[in-house]
Order: sequence, then structure tokens, then C-alpha cells
Amino acid sequence: MKPTIFVTRELPPKAMEKLQSYFDITCNPEDRILTKEELIAGNNKDALLCLLTDRIDQDVVAANLNVKVISNYAVGYNNVDVDAVTVAGIPLCITPGVLTETSADFAWALLMAVSRRIVEADQFTREGKWNGWGPMQFLGGDVYGKTLGIVGMGRIGQAVARRAQGFGMRVIYTARSDKRIVGTERVEMEQLLKESDFVSLNCALTGETTHLIGEKELSLMKETSYLINTARGPVVDEKALVKALEEKRIAGAGLDVFEEEPKITKGLCKLENVVVAPHIASATIETRTKMGLLAVENAIAIFEGKPPHAIVNPETLQANA
Ligand code: DGY
Repeated sequence: MKPTIFVTRELPPKAMEKLQSYFDITCNPEDRILTKEELIAGNNKDALLCLLTDRIDQDVVAANLNVKVISNYAVGYNNVDVDAVTVAGIPLCITPGVLTETSADFAWALLMAVSRRIVEADQFTREGKWNGWGPMQFLGGDVYGKTLGIVGMGRIGQAVARRAQGFGMRVIYTARSDKRIVGTERVEMEQLLKESDFVSLNCALTGETTHLIGEKELSLMKETSYLINTARGPVVDEKALVKALEEKRIAGAGLDVFEEEPKITKGLCKLENVVVAPHIASATIETRTKMGLLAVENAIAIFEGKPPHAIVNPETLQANA
């Protein structure tokens, strides 16, 4: 008999096929985020494959004590109460690595879009408002030769930094560890905020990074600088950001993530100096497929007694050995 798995939302076809070959699947039939009640009621299978939109809190864990693995279809796992899962002895697996380059590409897409005003210009052109070339039309900010400040120099931060070489940029960064990255300079947060023309947020969401960028930090940034967030929404105090953008205390923002997704702070979408996207930094067919396959392989590994590709709480493996 195949082990059973609850999948909270359909994944790309290749991942579903692989799942099917190993598990007896129960999948959310609708293309929507499940409620807490549904997460509690719908499963307690042998395994749970969930998404970053599923809040796996103590109540959900308590209703799923039968589960041998929680495989999160994401590299970030701030949606999961790690303590609760670990106390319950459940391995929590994630999908790092496969989305690094795609996510870095998208941070750059936002950076270029907001500084060169691509979305505004596209809308203007489509609406038939263009009546010919003009020397003052859609003036943006240069990218080439500027300073890029990266907050969080993990895999994705480093991939964002690599791309800056082609633009002849100076790259400075802050990071938790004291690792040195060739061609870049580690600085304190205050220096990064004061000197960067682009601040790219690439850190994980933790207690420490919640509202890391608030009113004070925004006030340290240059009036000509841009904030790019492809990390997690709560890293930024969104209300403070709206105010800073409204008052033109920074030049603009490119945002893929929001504090209370899918809600967006009032006023943000009215601003012209903002480019917004619905949390799609990793959204390519190739990458979402790789994430799906990795999430499935992680789950299978646990059932086969093999080490998964990436586990948040390896102590649960020792306890279960
Ligand atoms: C992740 O995996 O954490 C990303 O946010 C998905 O794009």
C-alpha cells in the first residue's frame, strides 16, 4: 500500500506525476489557499506537502500528528511553526537552491522596471498618449555604475550580486555570518542604507528581520534610491514605506512581497513610483517544476530512510532513527 499524502494545492504536472508514483494523493481540488479549518480537517495523512501560504501553526500540527514529513514547497519556511513541528518529531523539508537564479533574475526585473519606469511607460504608450519623442519623458535613474546594497547575502543575495557585475556596479552588503564575497564589501546596515542607490532585500524573515526596514531606515536612504523586496513582506514596515514613497523621500520601490499577502497596504498601488508583483519571483515553468520535484523527493526520502535534500530540523531524523 502506498503512503498517503495531503497536497494543499496542485503543483506543476511533473511533480504531480512523481507524487502519484509513490503516494496515494489527496489534493485540494480548488485553485485557492486553504483555510486553517481545512488544513486541520482535511488530512492527518502520512505526509503533508504544503505551500508558503499555508500557516502550519500549533493547531494544524496537533491535528496532524500522524504525519511523517512536512514538505514545504518553498525555500522560506516562516509559514511553519518550527518549534511545534520539531517537538512533534516531524521533519520539515524545504526547496532551496533550485529557485536561486530565477529569483535573482526577478529582483533585477523589478530593479530595472522601477528605475527605468517601464510599467508607467508601457501604460502610457498603450493608452495612446504618446505624441512623439521628448527630452523630458519618463526620466528615470541610472543603473550602470551605481551602488547596490544587498541585505542578506545568502544564495539569492549572491546571485543578485553576480548580476551587478555586468552593470559595473559597486556591491555592498550586510549578512548574519562574516562570510566574505569576492568583489563585494561587507558593511553595517546604516552605511548600506546611506550609500546604496538600490537596496535589495534578500534575507529570510525571522524575528530579527521583521520590520528591519521601517521609518528610520527609510529616512537614511537617499532621495534618489530604490528599495527592492523579493524576500518577505514583513521585512518592511509597509505603512512607513507608503509614507516615504508618497513624500518622495526615496525614489521608488519594486515589490514582489507584501506584509499581509494578498492584502496590500492602502495607497501603495496608487503610487507611480512603485512596481508591484504578486509574489512571483520564482514563477517560471522550469523553476516551479524543479521546486515541485524537490519537494516530492524530500518527502520520498523520509519514507525511504534517506537524507532529504534540505531539512530545517535534522534533529527529528536522529530522534526517529
Ligand atoms: C520561497 O520559496 O520561499 C519563495 O518565496 C517562493 O517564490
